[in-house]
Amino acid sequence: MKVQVCIIGGGPSGLLLSQLLHLQGIDTIVLEKYSREHVLARIRAGVLEHGFAKLMREAQCGERMDREGEIHHGFEIAHDGRLDRVDLHKYSGGNSVIVYGQTEVTRDLYEARDRLGGKVVHNAEDVTPHDIDSGAPYVTYRDGDKLVRVDCEFVIGADGFHGVSRKSIPNDVLREHEKVYPFGWLGILSRTKPVSPELIYVKHERGFALCSLRSQVLSRYYIQVPLTDKPEDWSDDAFWIELKRRLPADVAARLVTGPSIEKSIAPLRSFVAEPMRHGRLFLAGDAAHIVPPTGARGLNSAASDIYYLYHALVGHYLKGDDSGLDGYSQKALARVWKAQRFSWWMTMLLHRFPDRVSYDDRLQDTEMDYLFSSETAMRLVSENYVGLPF
Ligand code: APR
Ligand code: PHB
Repeated sequence: MKVQVCIIGGGPSGLLLSQLLHLQGIDTIVLEKYSREHVLARIRAGVLEHGFAKLMREAQCGERMDREGEIHHGFEIAHDGRLDRVDLHKYSGGNSVIVYGQTEVTRDLYEARDRLGGKVVHNAEDVTPHDIDSGAPYVTYRDGDKLVRVDCEFVIGADGFHGVSRKSIPNDVLREHEKVYPFGWLGILSRTKPVSPELIYVKHERGFALCSLRSQVLSRYYIQVPLTDKPEDWSDDAFWIELKRRLPADVAARLVTGPSIEKSIAPLRSFVAEPMRHGRLFLAGDAAHIVPPTGARGLNSAASDIYYLYHALVGHYLKGDDSGLDGYSQKALARVWKAQRFSWWMTMLLHRFPDRVSYDDRLQDTEMDYLFSSETAMRLVSENYVGLPF
């Protein structure tokens, strides 16, 4: 089989790039390790930057997002028993975010690929890139007992943090930067009315919490827990009691509780792999970088990779211009690191670190005081949260 671009990974990054390239007449195939059902069963964050939303519309996948997604013009921070609001719309020059579950984004992308007859292979086993240093790379995978070879001109590694692509870059070339945080997020999904129409990030002496939502009848809540905790350590009642203890009294009083339909603990890490290109292999999304979910930057920093790769490959195939490909890694990393910075800053501001000292506590208080007493600080947070330009 021969295609122009072989994409490893059928998550949001791989599907979005495949869809955008297809619309420009560029032939792709997506090789996904698991079934579509498995991919769509993942529960992930759901805050979309305006740049990501624009890209989904350009990919002819934004109709349900615009119909069912909620536009949010701000969010709140609960601290010291009070609520303060970050007015995104005012301080970002009129921008906002869309709250729309990532599972739905992925579902919309799959359905769009189906409509265009896009090639997406599921249950592709042992996917392996070959000859990425040459002008004729190829990728193999197993379909049951059959070994399939895909000849291509470019390989896109959109296979997430645990994928095969990043590991295909030679050790003497690849540089990895990582920071692991000493806590996790215990998250639950419940078919309850959200406690607030906007997100509430909580800084509390007992630990971080977050009140989020998927719709007006589906709520998503998180509390910071020690890394040693397991989901089975937490009954629903214990979760609700702890969440209420971290919320301002008036918010806790109106919290609607109910049975969890999903409960999991996610570790928090910051990670960047450089470079994001080696020969004919280009990394995108979680394959190259991971952020702690505090700033909701995960999917959004994948979006800028896809935007740059999309325009670079269109430049190559439709204009004979390779400047986008040659500049991809440097350009993508410049925006990736800004998303890393913002996610790190939000994490440092809002969490209770086990090894903190009193100086750290005072620094957190000062950051919070500065944020809500300075229009400059509010503009800085707002422009990062709605999304820096691609
Ligand atoms: N071969 C083929 N597919 C693979 C392999 C492999 N060896 N390893 C992983 N995959 C698939 C995974 O099953 C997954 O569906 O690659 C896909 C990678 O998708 P994500 O992990 O979702 O990463 P990405 O598409 O970059 O999404 C970016 O969205 O998924 C969220 O929060 C996540 O921030 C992330 C963002
Ligand atoms: C979520 O809804 O899952 C969510 C929202 C905002 C975040 C993190 C997670 O910062």
